[in-house]
Amino acid sequence: MKTRVLLIDATSPEAEILAEAARVMQRGGLVAFPTETVYGLGANALDTSAVARIFVAKGRPANNPLIVHVPSAVEAQKVAVEWSLSAAGLAQRFWPGPLTLVMRKHSSIPANITANGPTVAVRVPAHPVALGLLRAAAMPLAAPSANRSTELSPTRAEHVLRGLDGRIDLLLDGGPTAGGIESTVVDLTTVPPRLLRPGLVSVAELESVLGTLTRIESVSQTERVLPSPGLLPRHYAPRTPVECIESREEMRLANLLREGRRIGWVTFSDPGAVPSGILLRILPADPVGYAAGLYAVLHELDAAGLDRILVTLPPDTDAWHAVRDRLRRAAEK
Ligand code: TXA
Ligand code: MG
Repeated sequence: MKTRVLLIDATSPEAEILAEAARVMQRGGLVAFPTETVYGLGANALDTSAVARIFVAKGRPANNPLIVHVPSAVEAQKVAVEWSLSAAGLAQRFWPGPLTLVMRKHSSIPANITANGPTVAVRVPAHPVALGLLRAAAMPLAAPSANRSTELSPTRAEHVLRGLDGRIDLLLDGGPTAGGIESTVVDLTTVPPRLLRPGLVSVAELESVLGTLTRIESVSQTERVLPSPGLLPRHYAPRTPVECIESREEMRLANLLREGRRIGWVTFSDPGAVPSGILLRILPADPVGYAAGLYAVLHELDAAGLDRILVTLPPDTDAWHAVRDRLRRAAEK
């Protein structure tokens, strides 16, 4: 299959391009598009075979369920069987935006989206292209991140092509995404609700609406019933080995250089003079700016043919929780 690429305006997307993308999905095709977090790979959520094509294109195991994207909280209520006060409160405060809610699923949702489970993950994205596409297509869209399974999520069109060129019908190139890491995922089917994946909506913000929240950090690969397969330790990883270091361990760099390794180093404050042979990338020292740039830097270093990528971990504080979660997963072997 040849993947077509269409440029689209990220702030006021052209109606005819949205209409073309909607037609592709109405025929059961796959369209990658920008959201405010990362690029998604969309298909008609009510079409079982289109959804099956997403799993094939990504090489995603059938036991890892997909997020259903809808244009409004009203549409979200049609995907779930109950709309709790918690759901209403979170939707009111954070939608459209980078928050995904797991609820009991409505029977209209195909079983392969939810990996045969009783719950469905739903989100209303904020990006004008994503919202425009949902309205133009007039159907809920199943959309995981637009990368091959276990690899890094894409924050630019070129990242999508690196993994999926020739495997999807259409890519809408709306430029770099602003958020940079995937949405926060909260399970509302438990009491208290559980944080399944940290993200740009923080624990403190969630707790201001929900009261308490249970955190699950990680589950082992062997656990039989996964609360959320995205919790598997290795996820969001470049092909080049990644090693996380604390600031005080930066002398590891010198040792690796002595061994003749080609090293990439990602940090968040200017280290001054750096030995030649190190490909240095400095990300902003605030969590939002860091998240926005992280995957682009990892994609770039991954393509540079290095032996290893070292990442200096930001501080272990709530503000950095989501970023540290992604770094730990990227470094998991
Ligand atoms: O920001 C995002 O969420 C992006 C954009 C495209 O919207 N999407 C995304 O989708 O990251 P994906 O498929 O890469 O990650 C979805 C996560 C996975 O960890 C999956 O296991 C979890 O949500 N998930 C989906 N449905 C679930 C369910 N019913 N119960 C528990 N976890 C679920
Ligand atoms: Mg993903």
